[in-house]
Amino acid sequence: MAFLRSVSADTGPAIHGNGVFLRIPQMGDFPAWAALREDSRAFLTRWEPTWPADDLTRSAFRRRIRRYVQDVRDDVAYPFFVFDADDTLLGGATLSNIRRGVTQSASLGYWVGAAHARQGHMSAAVAAIIPFVFEQLRLHRLEAACLPSNAASIRLLEKVGFSREGYARRYLRINGVWQDHFLYAMLSDDPRPERP
Ligand SMILES: CC(C)(COP(=O)(O)OP(=O)(O)OC[C@H]1O[C@@H](n2cnc3c(N)ncnc32)[C@H](O)[C@@H]1OP(=O)(O)O)[C@@H](O)C(=O)NCCC(=O)NCCS
Repeated sequence: MAFLRSVSADTGPAIHGNGVFLRIPQMGDFPAWAALREDSRAFLTRWEPTWPADDLTRSAFRRRIRRYVQDVRDDVAYPFFVFDADDTLLGGATLSNIRRGVTQSASLGYWVGAAHARQGHMSAAVAAIIPFVFEQLRLHRLEAACLPSNAASIRLLEKVGFSREGYARRYLRINGVWQDHFLYAMLSDDPRPERP
């Protein structure tokens, strides 16, 4: 694919946004990632699937990186870490569950470290991912689901141009409990705000 030609096969695609830079995670990100996740545990865990007991270990991160590399190669998922201009790790944004054929869709998930929240970083990261999804991957539809109580996520999605399409009962198992979710989506020809 064209976008892969512009970057090394080892590092995968890279995306530049407004004050943020996104690239595929690498083993060298482990110390920053583990520290950020540990420091943000209380902030993140109520919104995420339950973390495995060994989640923050180096060996689990190595397995994670191997899976990521394979997923990108297979065009089934594109996991990104999000950095600021100083190369500080801010969080992550992942395109997963990529379906080709007659569907041409992906799911979007994201998180920021507690210390970096509410500074516009994830809005900038998601706004930067959108052209990658529709122009580089040439998908037709980008989906996201969030808890009805997740005001930050709802605001972010609506701000960058997603539409709420539905409500799925006990849709995802978050923090150990099957929970209802709002379903959001953006289509390739939906209007996108100039600067969210
Ligand atoms: C959701 C999340 C990624 C947003 O990241 P962020 O970098 O803080 O988002 P932004 O700073 O770009 O803010 C996006 C919008 O949400 C608003 N917002 C952010 N945090 C908020 C909060 N706690 N309550 C209400 N609104 C909030 C911002 O004010 C902004 O809207 P505005 O531009 O109208 O002011 C972050 O809160 C997070 O990681 N939460 C925990 C994990 C999570 O919920 N992941 C998503 C699961 S669906």
